[in-house]
Amino acid sequence: MGAHISAPLVYDGIILCPAILTPELVLKWKSAVEARYCDVDIARRNCGAATITAIAGTRERFVPTASSFTIGALSPEGDVSELLDSVSFGISGRWVKNILGWRLLCNLDQSWVRRQYAPSRYPPLHAPHGWHQDGALKFDFQSDPDGEFPRNATLNMVTCWIALDSCGLEAPGLELITERLGGLLSPTALRTEFLQTRFASKRFWRPTLQPGDALLFRGDILHRTHVIPEMTKDRTSIELRFFSAVSIPQRLQADRFIPFG
Ligand SMILES: [Fe+2]
Repeated sequence: MGAHISAPLVYDGIILCPAILTPELVLKWKSAVEARYCDVDIARRNCGAATITAIAGTRERFVPTASSFTIGALSPEGDVSELLDSVSFGISGRWVKNILGWRLLCNLDQSWVRRQYAPSRYPPLHAPHGWHQDGALKFDFQSDPDGEFPRNATLNMVTCWIALDSCGLEAPGLELITERLGGLLSPTALRTEFLQTRFASKRFWRPTLQPGDALLFRGDILHRTHVIPEMTKDRTSIELRFFSAVSIPQRLQADRFIPFG
């Protein structure tokens, strides 16, 4: 087990904040999440992975390839506002406001409960997340075949990734590249071999997190699931997406937003 950080770790565009959730909140959310994944396991046995989407309800989604629920699928057990209160308090809140301003929104359609399994236990269709930038959400990469995307194609946003389990060593965590890009990389440039030639090895960061720790990062930060065959435990996490209330991106206008902060 790695040493548990006690103070924030900061890179340009990334901050790792220890213990932003109290142990009580971690337990509460873990139990609500567990109940939902039990529903998924039953549905997988009874109807097969392809039809599981039906159990999340009409507006909420379950994505079998990522074993992820939109966060509203936990309601009424999950009250997102208590998570948002925890994030907006202290250094994590100041960090987000410094980037997005004081009028913050959480996008409920882009906020998820995720589970990454130990490689020996992958359910049907499940896969880890490959390299990507969250700021590319809903971007049409076909819009420019040459890959010269406008700088404003990258959403001005912050992802808040909260671990509910210890992760990064025995359970899958995240790997990030600690260098801001500003713009978007084309999907064809997101191969590990390419990224290893573009970025120095010291830029590849695989933090270990304890339950309740949070990683916050800007939309242009490259990241993926960190998973290796030796991992034996599963990891559950909550992923919230934040935007500025004064500049909701055009391509997310139809999503549900709630204010906080
Ligand atoms: Fe992501």
